[in-house]
Amino acid sequence: MVPEEQKKGLEGVVIADTRLSKVMGDIGKLIYCGYDINDLAEHATFEEVVFLLWNTRLPNRAELDQFKAELAANMALPPSLLETMKRFPKDAHPMGVLRSAVSVLGLHDPAAEDSSPAANVRKAMLLTAKIPTIIAAWARIRDGQEPVEPRRELGLAANFLYMLKGTEPDSVEVDAINVYLVLLADHGMNASTFTSRVVTSTDADMYSAITAAIGSLKGPKHGGANEAAMVMFNEVSQASSVEQWFEQEVKGKGRRIMGIGHRVYKAPDPRAGILKAHAMALCERSQNCGLIDVARQLEDLARADSYFIERKLFPNVDYYSAIVLDAVGISTDMMTPLFAMSRIAGWSAHIIEQWADNRLIRPRGNYIGDTDRRYVPLSER
Ligand SMILES: CC(C)(COP(=O)(O)OP(=O)(O)OC[C@H]1O[C@@H](n2cnc3c(N)ncnc32)[C@H](O)[C@@H]1OP(=O)(O)O)[C@@H](O)C(=O)NCCC(=O)NCCS
Repeated sequence: MVPEEQKKGLEGVVIADTRLSKVMGDIGKLIYCGYDINDLAEHATFEEVVFLLWNTRLPNRAELDQFKAELAANMALPPSLLETMKRFPKDAHPMGVLRSAVSVLGLHDPAAEDSSPAANVRKAMLLTAKIPTIIAAWARIRDGQEPVEPRRELGLAANFLYMLKGTEPDSVEVDAINVYLVLLADHGMNASTFTSRVVTSTDADMYSAITAAIGSLKGPKHGGANEAAMVMFNEVSQASSVEQWFEQEVKGKGRRIMGIGHRVYKAPDPRAGILKAHAMALCERSQNCGLIDVARQLEDLARADSYFIERKLFPNVDYYSAIVLDAVGISTDMMTPLFAMSRIAGWSAHIIEQWADNRLIRPRGNYIGDTDRRYVPLSER
């Protein structure tokens, strides 16, 4: 008998008070600490948003300058971590590499076990600064190239592109990455954020919580959807037409369209609209609009189909972010690490919030197995 209170997938279950972000799924609105995501995407840098999530207020000019300088000063990786990464299998998934590298980073932090508020802020700073460097370094290491050192005068988005490509970052691409990072920084009690809070609730250290969160983000039902959407767009572009692919794969075989649907949004995800506009601007600039045309046609087909209409299924943030990241030159399997590069802001803010008012998160399962079996000795089985 299923207990009345059981909610499959914890749908609708509230697990904590939070001041960080609120997803209003019925009206398609998202706020960080009271600020509308549209407002932040138009005006804020990622660094401002990180400060906002850690302090629940925006910084003034002097605070922001100091904050950016501190982040830039923390971006370089310990040489021993780079040496370890050089020994990772070159065909490892970049999310597996990121998960492992963050875990190794914890081994190199002599204060890893100190979870005081000051130590947690220091670790949040260190992780937010070093994750872009890990991702960029891995992109180069697996291609047989030497990693590029970060530059202190560059902001986080620009530094990432510089370390990835080894060339002066292009301002349009920097803006696109910045908007992407702002939009993905936090999102209520999503699966990876919940994971980070569950681990924290046992009084485990921040490295353990972030390592677990990265593992949770990797799945295609969560952060891995940007990679899965990109793979799908490429597949659709090979079909004789988008309509034919939709009829055959979605209507015929019941395949899910990756990057569509959301547990909370039953109205358009506001982040998807912002990214769609950026994707269109980027494709017009490069005169290469093939994939965005595929994505738009597929969205139109889904949005006109009664199955998608009845279930209130709209493109989520990962749908057009795949197109934006592709236009900026991010390879498909590097897309989910980019999600982590942004979400580290929210994860660390939630971990700090959990520590401030912690109680072990320990739900129950509804046991439906046998209850009265007798042990049979091995020789009798
Ligand atoms: C995000 C997601 C996991 C939400 O899952 P959920 O809240 O548990 O919702 P469910 O999986 O129960 O789906 C609800 C219904 O919509 C359908 N559905 C959900 N997403 C769909 C998609 N992308 N394409 C086709 N049908 C979809 C399901 O088949 C289900 O139909 P049913 O009620 O007839 O069984 C789901 O929408 C999904 O798999 N989307 C694709 C992956 C993705 O983009 N993930 C990133 C999320 S930000």
